[in-house]
Amino acid sequence: MIKKIGVLTSGGDAPGMNAAVRAVVRTALSKGMEVYGIRRGYAGLITGDIIKMDERSVSDIIHRGGTILYTARCPEFRTEEGILKAKAKCDELGIEGLVVIGGDGSFRGAADLSAKGVLCIGLPGTIDNDIACTEYTIGFDTAMNTAMELVDKLRDTSQSHDRCSVVEVMGRGAGHIAVNTGIACGATDIITKEVPYDIDAIAKTMLEKQAKGKKNFVVIVAEGIGHSQEIATMIQEKTHIEARATILGHVQRGGNPTLRDRVEATRMGYYAVELLEQGIGNRVVGLKDNKLVDYDIQEALSMTKAYDEKLHHIAEQIAF
Ligand code: ADP
Ligand code: F6P
Repeated sequence: MIKKIGVLTSGGDAPGMNAAVRAVVRTALSKGMEVYGIRRGYAGLITGDIIKMDERSVSDIIHRGGTILYTARCPEFRTEEGILKAKAKCDELGIEGLVVIGGDGSFRGAADLSAKGVLCIGLPGTIDNDIACTEYTIGFDTAMNTAMELVDKLRDTSQSHDRCSVVEVMGRGAGHIAVNTGIACGATDIITKEVPYDIDAIAKTMLEKQAKGKKNFVVIVAEGIGHSQEIATMIQEKTHIEARATILGHVQRGGNPTLRDRVEATRMGYYAVELLEQGIGNRVVGLKDNKLVDYDIQEALSMTKAYDEKLHHIAEQIAF
């Protein structure tokens, strides 16, 4: 029976991480375990920036963005020496299991620590939804809703000025935020790495739409493409439609988590502790057909994630 576990958040933060931390802490306490909160990801595990969590330590956080445990990227943890220091800290405190909330990089770290004998469970926490073994990552819904609200605002001003708004959304290398935000905002065009695009063709269809009466345009560009300013400049040069570029940036990572993020984070946090309770480690939790599943970390890291091309093409087809 596992008696002491730790929980940390690592990599980029995501709305809903707090709800996951709360679920882990409360589930573990309800099962009679001791729980430690490790601050600033693996950095805190190396330096011993660790606090004991009680029932009240996670009060009033389920609705808050960010992470009360803070997060960090920790280059030292990529070294054998760093991993051994972290393992030594776990041994010193008697931490036998660890819940790691983060992305693929954090899971690689969790696999390394698992190999040293600490039972690690990864929970997918990133706004990008770019983790292959799961259909859903904590933070994705909130980030998309934030992006949608911001694009709606841009659309207002774009409409008043008969302009084209080129909006870059986050997602690292993936276009999941872009395609969903594009659909939800009725974008004229969506540009992601997953689907080939041609600026000349985009400009040509814009002019055709303009000839049929369309006056303002919204083009969503995925972060992986970048160059949103250059894209806006090219569109303006090729169409003579005034274009403005906006990079939404880190505002997409903040804000109160949506209902979906709170619920999924809570389910996943509970599930992670159930695995640890059974003495299971070196797993990543995922959502498949709305059911929670878990995979060996290496297996999870070797999977590839599908992009919803159908959604992308629907958006293109109905953007008159
Ligand atoms: P994310 O978890 O969001 O993908 P990062 O890639 O920045 O974010 O990884 C977060 C942290 O996980 C890194 O700062 C590092 O401490 C750890 N990490 C990343 N890759 C590895 C690796 N290959 N081996 C060990 N630890 C890693
Ligand atoms: O992974 C989340 C994310 O916000 C990505 O969308 C983006 O590429 C990256 O993190 C930004 O990282 P940083 O916070 O280091 O600027």
